[in-house]
Amino acid sequence: MTKRRRIYEGKAKVLFEGPEPGTIVQYFKDDATAFNAQKKGTITGKGVLNNRISEYLMTKLGEIGVPTHFIRRLNMREQLVREVEIIPIEVVVRNVAAGSISKRFGLAEGTPLPRSVVEFYYKNDQLGDPMVSEEHITAFGWASPQDIDEVMALALRVNDYLTGLFLGVGLRLIDFKLEFGRLFEEDRMRIVLADEISPDNCRLWDARTNEKLDKDRFRQDLGKVEEAYQEVAKRLGILPDGPGDHAAPKMMQ
Ligand code: TMP
Repeated sequence: MTKRRRIYEGKAKVLFEGPEPGTIVQYFKDDATAFNAQKKGTITGKGVLNNRISEYLMTKLGEIGVPTHFIRRLNMREQLVREVEIIPIEVVVRNVAAGSISKRFGLAEGTPLPRSVVEFYYKNDQLGDPMVSEEHITAFGWASPQDIDEVMALALRVNDYLTGLFLGVGLRLIDFKLEFGRLFEEDRMRIVLADEISPDNCRLWDARTNEKLDKDRFRQDLGKVEEAYQEVAKRLGILPDGPGDHAAPKMMQ
């Protein structure tokens, strides 16, 4: 294998310089962390599944006109993406109360929210990703008011589309986290969906039983963590099929 320049190592992924200028290789690890990395572990096979799940969801979103950084999957654990300038904001969309919103407002987990709620967190591990308002984002120059409008509109479109897609395979999309980046093309700047969409950054509950099928199984020590990621991939019809892993994703109807 040729030596590639490692650009950045995060908690769940490593980024390498891509084969052409303006491209990046995202390598998906099996490492899992929670509570700002106070809890650490490994979810065997997670990287392979998240690579496939994120490929599938980003491709589907691209097909409905949501701009994304995704170019193509390279192998079991790697995908090629466009190099973007990451906006340092984690955008959380919530449909049903769970996790931090349940705690913050004393809402029983599973309570449907009156409408979808978008929240912003400043992406900074040292500070523990504090929640921020649009005022902080614009005052500190992390994004402009126009950027925020664009991000909000995209996040809500993604929510509408993914809610339907997951419900079609018997999963409730409770909430999820997105990241966006700025893509510079000639004299234009476009905001595109970046990072990944997977059970690491979505809450997905079985539509019939409300069984948790996401990283909360790891966060809360619920067991059957690997199985949950496999179940999501299976329902989407994209479980990798063994050592060759050459099959294209197929939709399970
Ligand atoms: P929260 O309820 O803990 O605020 O999480 C909301 C959603 O965001 C949930 O789907 C998990 C996801 N998330 C991340 O992807 N990364 C994070 O660092 C955190 C705290 C949450």
